[in-house]
Amino acid sequence: MMLRLCFLMAVGSQLALAEEPAVEVQSEVAATTETGPLTGLELQRAKEFLERLNNETSVWYNRGALAQWAYDSNLTAANLVAKIHMLSEAAAAGKAKWAEIQAFPWQRIGDDEIRRQFSKHARLGVGVLEKKDYEDYENTVANMQQEYSTARICEYKEADKCDLALEPHLTELLMSSRDPEELKHVWIEWRKATGEKVKPLYPKYVDLINRAARLNNYTDNAASWLDDYETDNFAGQIENLWQQMRPLYLELHAYVRNQLREKYGDQIVSRDGPLPAHLLGNMWAQTWEHIADFSTPYPGKKLPDATENMVKQGYDANRIFHLADSFFTSLNLSAVSESFWTNSILEKPNDGRELVCHASAWDFYDGKDFRIKQCTRVNSEDLSTAHHEMGHIQYYMQYKDQPFPFREGANPGFHEAIGDVMALSVSTLQHLKKINLLDQDTQEDPEAMLNYLYIIALQKVAFLPFGYAVDKWRWNVFRGSITPDKYNCDWWKLVHELQGVEPPVDRSEEDFDVASKYHVIASVEYIRYFVSTVIQFQFHKSLCQVAGQYDPADIAHKPLHQCDIYQSKEAGNLLGSMLKLGSSKPWPDAMEVITGQREMDAAGLLEYFNPLYEWLKVKNKETGAHVGWTSTSKRCVQTRSQLQLVDSPSTA
Ligand SMILES: *[C@@H]1O[C@H](CO)[C@@H](O)[C@H](O)[C@H]1NC(C)=O
Ligand SMILES: *[C@@H]1O[C@H](CO)[C@@H](O)[C@H](O)[C@H]1NC(C)=O
Ligand SMILES: *[C@@H]1O[C@H](CO)[C@@H](O)[C@H](O)[C@H]1NC(C)=O
Ligand SMILES: *[C@@H]1O[C@H](CO)[C@@H](O)[C@H](O)[C@H]1NC(C)=O
Ligand SMILES: [Zn+2]
Repeated sequence: MMLRLCFLMAVGSQLALAEEPAVEVQSEVAATTETGPLTGLELQRAKEFLERLNNETSVWYNRGALAQWAYDSNLTAANLVAKIHMLSEAAAAGKAKWAEIQAFPWQRIGDDEIRRQFSKHARLGVGVLEKKDYEDYENTVANMQQEYSTARICEYKEADKCDLALEPHLTELLMSSRDPEELKHVWIEWRKATGEKVKPLYPKYVDLINRAARLNNYTDNAASWLDDYETDNFAGQIENLWQQMRPLYLELHAYVRNQLREKYGDQIVSRDGPLPAHLLGNMWAQTWEHIADFSTPYPGKKLPDATENMVKQGYDANRIFHLADSFFTSLNLSAVSESFWTNSILEKPNDGRELVCHASAWDFYDGKDFRIKQCTRVNSEDLSTAHHEMGHIQYYMQYKDQPFPFREGANPGFHEAIGDVMALSVSTLQHLKKINLLDQDTQEDPEAMLNYLYIIALQKVAFLPFGYAVDKWRWNVFRGSITPDKYNCDWWKLVHELQGVEPPVDRSEEDFDVASKYHVIASVEYIRYFVSTVIQFQFHKSLCQVAGQYDPADIAHKPLHQCDIYQSKEAGNLLGSMLKLGSSKPWPDAMEVITGQREMDAAGLLEYFNPLYEWLKVKNKETGAHVGWTSTSKRCVQTRSQLQLVDSPSTA
């Protein structure tokens, strides 16, 4: 599933603040020389200042989002110029406003909530850059995005047909082709068409975003991104979580390698090496559910897949999103508005325009305009993606009445988790049966249940080390410990260490493989998807308990992986009470509302997958599968010519 392929629209971090200078208020309040908390009239003035600031800021964000939408849904030069112009104007206005805020003694405001609003306004983001640098930054990212969104490659069998786009062609090809040569071709060509093209732009992007971070008094952009989580040593917590889940990943990895060896032979898949990246059913080997058909634990049992029934019943994009909407309303959460249906783009337009197809959910900051842009296909993967995106929309709607600075997720991982929590219920055998998307009655069959858990593990567990690697790589790039001459080989080192995956062919520093991934070139922080994968199981566990669908004292009858919270007002009300908070409180407070816990915890995920984990351990022992991996035989060197020299038989 592409549950985590979309992103939360975030002009937010790039724009800032508002237009008219409030000189009056500033001079009055700044004139105070007291050092104690602001009181009485002063506090009243601070509130008025803030209210105006919030209003003006939301107007700028609204304009920015509209300009960005116009461009992203129709990639023309004119739309790009209009977008950059708007963002640049907003950034300038924001900077002017920021200076006033700095002169304002907001740190002395006693009211936590008011002070927290000010502190969020005081973060300037990329808008801190000089106008010229700011436009340079926006143009650099837009150029990378344009290369990516318009990339096309040639077919493997008909080399003169060169119109294969990522969505839908290449995504589907990676899912369904079982020809290793064709898969290798697509894997290599996609990286030539994207990573290699944007390679010259990336160091410049890194330089500009780091410069902005330093102007904001961070050591570098890694520190800036991590600060969104308001937690000391957040990166250390991520590492700890990964270590807790790693044993499960290792068993899954070992099992999958054995199945790949049976399918493709031991010439292509070694006994104890890393997994070949092109054989895992996904362009980036980030989720592996599309190889479930030949690798499933019990091949005799039909795999639960809603796709066939969706097609048979004439589902289209509209109906998929209505189904998702009705899941939310069944929980007593909000339905989307009429304007959502008229303004969203739910199918890839066929009028010839180029657009960013990467699924995304948008907040236009006016409290009523919320949209999704997704080139939806009719299959079970996009059914889940639709729920994922609708989770963002639900969050937007729930916190729309918060003051402007709090209209964001408790942290970026929370925003990604909401729709996935829904999908955990929707994808259960019991639920799919209930909504008529599954024929067989398999929920009581332990073998069918294990097949089901296996598919979910290929989505969620397989994703963890990838989600970690993408930002571990970028943190090191921003910190300067990975330099441009080592971008690619250091990426593969991380992928080897964390994922145990290797490229299908030797690589060099003339390639730039990490940039074949959308979020990397679009400057979207990625650790949020790792966080989301962990905390969605924490949320699921608590909501399921409230819904009476999971009982820790009776997991034989009510195990976590069979829980469906459909129609539970109790679960929906609890979730809603957390969503309504937006970012008005630090995330541990929000988490506590649902789970009673103040920390991220892998226990939910581990409990959910425990039956599979136990099965995998036994199976791997039985087959003598090698758990873990040795070093790769694929090389990564500086230049391609070095590879050719070594490869060529005449020089051997
Ligand atoms: C902010 O906007 C709200 C709603 O549009 C309005 O009622 C309020 O008067 C505005 N406040 C200021 C200070 O402009
Ligand atoms: C795309 O944008 C151009 C302006 O650059 C506009 O003329 C055209 O109508 C737009 N196309 C669609 C389908 O909105
Ligand atoms: C960074 O720190 C300097 C010196 O303390 C200060 O003048 C400046 O306003 C700070 N910048 C930001 C964006 O906070
Ligand atoms: C549904 O949610 C609303 C608040 O959005 C609440 O007032 C109402 O009591 C809830 N209904 C039920 C049946 O829980
Ligand atoms: Zn998302």
